[in-house]
Formats: sequence, C-alpha cells, structure tokens
Amino acid sequence: MHPAALVLALALSAPALALDNGLMLTPPMGWLAWERYRCDIDCANDPKNCISENLFIDMADRLYEDGWKELGYSFINIDDCWSSKVRDKQGRLQADPKRFPGGILKLSRYLHERGLKLGIYGDMGTLTCGGYPGTPLDKVKIDAQTFADWEVDMFKYDGCYSNATEQEKGYPAMSVALNATGRPIAYSCSWPAYQGGLPPKVNYTELGQICNLWRNYGDIEDSWDSVLNIINWFFENQDVLTPAAGPGKWNDPDMLVIGDFGLSYEQSRTQMALWAIMAAPLFMSNDLRTISSSARAILQNKMIISINQDQLGIQGRRIVKEKIGIDVYLRPLSHNCSALVFFSRRSDMPYRYSTSLSKLNFTAGVYKVMDVYSNKEDTLKDSSTFVVSINPTGVVMWYVSAPAKPSLRHFFKAGKLRGYDDYDHANALPASFL
Ligand code: GLA
Repeated sequence: MHPAALVLALALSAPALALDNGLMLTPPMGWLAWERYRCDIDCANDPKNCISENLFIDMADRLYEDGWKELGYSFINIDDCWSSKVRDKQGRLQADPKRFPGGILKLSRYLHERGLKLGIYGDMGTLTCGGYPGTPLDKVKIDAQTFADWEVDMFKYDGCYSNATEQEKGYPAMSVALNATGRPIAYSCSWPAYQGGLPPKVNYTELGQICNLWRNYGDIEDSWDSVLNIINWFFENQDVLTPAAGPGKWNDPDMLVIGDFGLSYEQSRTQMALWAIMAAPLFMSNDLRTISSSARAILQNKMIISINQDQLGIQGRRIVKEKIGIDVYLRPLSHNCSALVFFSRRSDMPYRYSTSLSKLNFTAGVYKVMDVYSNKEDTLKDSSTFVVSINPTGVVMWYVSAPAKPSLRHFFKAGKLRGYDDYDHANALPASFL
C-alpha cells in the first residue's frame, strides 16, 4: 500500500476518541422542562403545562422577550415524554403528533430565528425512564442523524433500562455518531449518574473526551432537602470532581429549581451562588410566564452569571467547613479574581461569622470585595478580621478583585502579572459591570 493510503486507512479506522466539537467552552445556560413539568402529557386538562410544542414556544418567547437571552440563557431543552410511542415507517423517532403537530424541526427553526437553541432527550436503554422509545446501540446512528436533520443543538442521553456493559459502548458510540452528522450538537451524558458518580466505576478522563457535560448524581427535586443533598455530595467528592471539569466538559449537579415552590428566598440565593461556584450548567426548570420578581432577580444576577461563566472554567471548592455549621467556598476566576461564598447550615438566626482573607488563603495585600447580592463594595486588608452575617440556609457571596496597587510588587515578584496591561485588568471588574 502507498504510505499515504496507509495513513488515510489508519485515520479512517481510528476511533474518534476526543469530543473535539468546540462547544460549551463555558457552562451552558437555558431552560429544561423536566423538574417542573415532568411527564405531564394531559394536554386536554392541563394545556398550559403539558409537554407540547406550546410549552416550549411559550418558554422560548419568555427567554427572548424578558431579557434572559441577553444574559446567556439560550437553550430550550425538551426532556422525556416528547415522542410518539412508535417509530415511523423508516424506523426513526417521531414527536407525538398531537402534542407536537409542527414537529421538532419547526420548533428548532422557531428558536433559531430568535437566536435560541434546542436540546432534546433520549435514553440508551430500550425505553426512556418515562417509558418512551429508547435509543439502544442499534439505533444510535439513525437517531443521531434524525436529531441533526431536525437541527437540534444539544442531546441528553439518559441511561434507564440499560446496563453497565451497554453504557460502556453506547455513550462513546453516540458521541461518535453525533460528531459524524457534521452538525455541532452538544452532548450531555447521564452515564456517571447510573454508575454512582465515582471512580473506579466512573472514568472522568474518558467522559471529558466524549461528553460536554454529564449528570454525576441523582435527580433534583423541588425541595431544600434535595438541593442540600446535592450540594453535600458534590463538595464531599470535590477532589474527584473538580479536576474533571473545564472548558467544554462540565459536571452537572442538575437543574435550578429557583422560581418553583420548594426553596425559600435564602435557599434560592444559595442554589444560584453554589451552582456558580461549581461552574455548573444553569438550566432553569420553572415557569417563566409567572416567575416572581425576586426569583427572576436571583437568576438574572449579572455578577453571579459572570462568575459561573468565567472563561478559565475552574470548578470551585469548599475550603472551610466549620463545626458550627458555616462553610466557605472559593472559585478562582480569570484576571486573578475569585468568588467566595459563605454558607450557613444553621437554623437559629443570622450568624455573625468572623474571619480574615488571610485565613482564606488571600495573602497578597489589600483586596477589593463586592457583595454580589447587595452590590456593596469594600476594601479589605488580608490580615484584617471582618464579619459577615449569614442568614439560616443562606449565603453571602463576594467577588474578590485582585489586590490593588500597594501589593502589586508582591504579584510581580511572584511572576503572576506580566505588565501593566494585566494590572489594569486585574483591578477592573469585568467590562459588563462597569
Ligand atoms: C431520569 C433523569 C431525569 C429526567 C428523567 C426523565 O430520571 O435523570 O433528569 O430526564 O429521567 O424520565
């Protein structure tokens, strides 16, 4: 064989391992039907809330008209129970004809005309978790092609009714099949959630190569218990999880339930703050038609969104866990800035937590801090003691700018800044906040 032909043959036969689709360099943001709307298919009696094209069009209109899109919330994601119970004559999945009379392509075009994107859902078993047709191995190619034909932008591949051996084949196979369609389709894998979320059963290196995001853990519910349980699991396992995340590959602690019924105001602020620390996908599952102004303000907080979307994509960690029920979380951000969250697990009264920046590993002098919920700014010397008042089940969240002038010498010495260009950046808040 001619050497060039050999190289070509090898290239064609080599499995496409890396998910090099260039998508989701920051965590995706948008709206996802599942937590709030589940498998409500009763459009006769519950037309406003049933899984139908009308629900997705309504939410798309809200994202487009109510300022969500400009903030980055661009996905509208269909979850389970969208399809007909039978495939079409060509063996392709098809939307339920009564609930989606226009079909999925029409819906995705509606979104694209508004600069939004469409996500859809499937399952690697014989059936989806809700009992709709699945996408087992022999259907991977045809279904990936159908989603591409429908101009879908994201695909969530669930794992009900499949076993570990099938998952080992199916999740990588779908990654290859989506890439092979030539359409950029972001890929969300539920695989780790079905394998306990931890090594040795879960291989996070491989996941980063085949998926853009993945569900590590159980489903979120509309309750504080559920949100707290997820927070605890993710930070207890931070040594395993944080190295797995980065641009194009994210841990997914599941949807935001802010704007629903189960979380108090404080708890809603906590979910938003800690999802930003975790560099988590921000998919709201709520009713954007009737959302309260306080929930909207939390979800539309520009500072927190910018922290979530920081371009370095470093997932934050819990750095302090006090026995008295106070935790401190830190996420490093670009331009030598950081986000800090003080969280209270207490149930008595606002707790006056006393600490200093140097106790939290900030040792470069004087910092500018901004409370992202009150927008109050302050200047703090690393060694000075300060007090934050943290409400029960609530947070205080700070954006900490890089040290101001007096401590710059320290930074230059440490080789962290190269010149005054960096210095200007380092002292500025992101342009969008000025
Ligand atoms: C699983 C997933 C959920 C949702 C449902 C749909 O439980 O983890 O996020 O997609 O299936 O049935």
